[in-house]
Amino acid sequence: MISTELTTQYALRNTFSLSCPLCRGHVIAEENRARCLLCGTIYPRTNDIWRFLPSARQEFFAPFLQEYRATRANEKWESMDGEYYRALPIVPHDDPHRAIWKIRAKHFARLLQMLGDAKNLRVLDIGAGNGWLSNQLAAREHSVAAVDLNDDRRDGLGARVNYANAFECYQAEFDCLPFSDAQFDFVIFNASLHYASSLTSSLAESQRVLAPRGSIIILDSPFYTRPAVKNFLTLQLLRDAAHELNLEMLLAFADDVWHKLARRKIIELKIGREPAHFPIIRLFQPPTSNI
Ligand SMILES: C[S@@+](CC[C@H](N)C(=O)[O-])C[C@H]1O[C@@H](n2cnc3c(N)ncnc32)[C@H](O)[C@@H]1O
Repeated sequence: MISTELTTQYALRNTFSLSCPLCRGHVIAEENRARCLLCGTIYPRTNDIWRFLPSARQEFFAPFLQEYRATRANEKWESMDGEYYRALPIVPHDDPHRAIWKIRAKHFARLLQMLGDAKNLRVLDIGAGNGWLSNQLAAREHSVAAVDLNDDRRDGLGARVNYANAFECYQAEFDCLPFSDAQFDFVIFNASLHYASSLTSSLAESQRVLAPRGSIIILDSPFYTRPAVKNFLTLQLLRDAAHELNLEMLLAFADDVWHKLARRKIIELKIGREPAHFPIIRLFQPPTSNI
């Protein structure tokens, strides 16, 4: 049992304009169901999660989810304590992943700097997991949509029961988002882009829902300089995908200062393969010239 659950008033209903993953018709959300005006498909909302993963796609992702959940439970990325979720990215001293969360907290602070002082930004948290980032951004008065395949109670969207801040949860996939075009100021892949099976498809879908001056931000995904690791990402692969989509790419935080490079070299000698680095990257549409 999760020890402290909060009663939440989810006040964001109808904040985001929805679109049918099957036919791209306009979708109208009612209390506990949404309906496509074009093909008539009904998408239910259960346990405060909008279910936008068609059954064929649920079947497709089932083996991945089964393996992913087992690995994450084994590695203890979860807690029975609601306070654990509310405090993320800060974790207790005895957390098995304290070293990683310390780095993640630093990157989260950098992300907040990038978002700036504006209030009520429309943010899409893609691959949101237990929703800790959505919760933190909702606490800062932004309108947040969290998307994930995983509705698990501890490590997926089901963990939303632990949060008092209002954000909307959507069970959906990177490459077929249930949103109409051009509405998010920021689309954030927080420790999730390395799960994309096609960088170009996932980024193209994010670009579709991005407001004209919006940005895609990528953080806490492992990058390598040599493409030798499973689920690898390299800056060159990302540059190629960005180029294909006509997106500008900015290394907002390069993670390549000399002492880190030196330390990575030492680790490489120890573990016999290149350790990852974790840059923060911004992708955005090139400003259009009026001339
Ligand atoms: C390592 S977790 C990161 C979770 C969270 N963003 C965080 O910062 O802790 C990666 C998440 O991406 C989700 N994911 C992987 N592939 C996905 C896909 N194709 N569509 C939607 N979510 C996906 C997984 O279910 C998982 O919750």
